[in-house]
Amino acid sequence: MHMRRAIFPGSFDPLTNGHLDIIRRSAPLFDEMIIAVLNNPDKHPMFLVEERCAMIREVLPTVDTGNCSVTVDNFSGLTADFAKRSGATAIVRGIRAVSDYEYELRMALMNRRLEPSIETVFLMAAEEYSYVSSDLMKQIFRLGGRVEGLIPELIESKMREKK
Ligand code: PNS
Repeated sequence: MHMRRAIFPGSFDPLTNGHLDIIRRSAPLFDEMIIAVLNNPDKHPMFLVEERCAMIREVLPTVDTGNCSVTVDNFSGLTADFAKRSGATAIVRGIRAVSDYEYELRMALMNRRLEPSIETVFLMAAEEYSYVSSDLMKQIFRLGGRVEGLIPELIESKMREKK
């Protein structure tokens, strides 16, 4: 049987409930999905790529992904290359608001130019996560604000350990 495999690439620094929402929504569309965590040490992430992967693996069982087999891997270099190397035919990305569209369109068109056999599939995140981003979560957390309900509890406690 032909397996429909997708990658869901991102920085995931850290994973938010918005990401989990996209994982849950995209799972029924594919047989296999790889959460592809970008190794980007030059961006000085809050969490090392291995920490980000481990946290996602720990939180994944809380999401109903049905028959889709979801795994977590890290990558360096081009997303299009990683997708090709993984045997994926789709790149999943979430769109929250119109403001995401321009950036996502540029990346999707560039990735299509790099790997014409791979399509980017956009899913709309739930409205309640439309203002949730990893960057805002980190900023609010650092300044002592409340992020409960917007990121998994496990990840919130890992953030607290980093403080
Ligand atoms: O979670 P993010 O930060 O919005 O994800 C951005 C990501 C990782 C998808 C993007 O930065 C990316 O694809 N980086 C890998 C390098 C690459 O392929 N660049 C060209 C994109 S057209």
